[in-house]
Amino acid sequence: MSLFITFEGGEGSGKSTQAKALYRRLLSIGISCVLTHEPGGTPLGNRLRRLLRGEGEIDPQTELFLFAASRAQLVREVIRPSLERGALVISDRFFHSTIAYQGYGRGLDLTIIEELNRIATEGLCPDLVVLLDIPVEEGLARKRLRDRFEKEELAFHQRVREGYLEMAGSDPKRWLVVDAALPRQQVTRLIWERVTNLLSERGLTPGAAL
Ligand SMILES: Nc1ncnc2c1ncn2[C@@H]1O[C@H](COP(=O)(O)OP(=O)(O)O)[C@@H](O)[C@H]1O
Ligand SMILES: [Mg+2]
Repeated sequence: MSLFITFEGGEGSGKSTQAKALYRRLLSIGISCVLTHEPGGTPLGNRLRRLLRGEGEIDPQTELFLFAASRAQLVREVIRPSLERGALVISDRFFHSTIAYQGYGRGLDLTIIEELNRIATEGLCPDLVVLLDIPVEEGLARKRLRDRFEKEELAFHQRVREGYLEMAGSDPKRWLVVDAALPRQQVTRLIWERVTNLLSERGLTPGAAL
């Protein structure tokens, strides 16, 4: 068995909360499981994450390469080896973030982004992408970021949200869109439903139902 699940969505949509909840739940029923995140997830990736969050302007093209570099390292050092030994891998963000943020958000060429993603991931694609969808201002407010964002930046996050919804709409078998404004237990339950279906499709019977 190898199953790869990613969490996507805007700031404050609950990705880290839900990724951790799913990880714990799977461990509790005895499924070998790895939780990682982007950017970062490796020693080099964490250095790249600090660069991306550091002081000073980063050119959008440079930013694109730094995310790709972090992803290339994460795939080779963590994700592939874990899948190969049969673990289920959960990643808090993966390459769809780059399509949403750098592509739809910043307007960089989508065909170039897709090519770069393909190189960074060696063609690896998640079996399930959980999209936590929430109105932009609600998500930012959860992280107390709302007041710091100008109108222009809100429009950027709006394009990111629409980009995600478009990707999900064009591949509904792979994507689960969850209303992330719901109470967190309810979000957890909706995700768990889909994951248990996926596990039984792969011949794995999870433990007790929620
Ligand atoms: N369903 C929810 N309803 C209300 N608050 C939530 C919900 N899910 C997460 N939160 C809170 O919102 C904040 C952002 O959640 P987080 O998981 O860090 O989001 P992300 O990783 O997507 O940025 C945290 O303070 C978290 O406790
Ligand atoms: Mg997070």
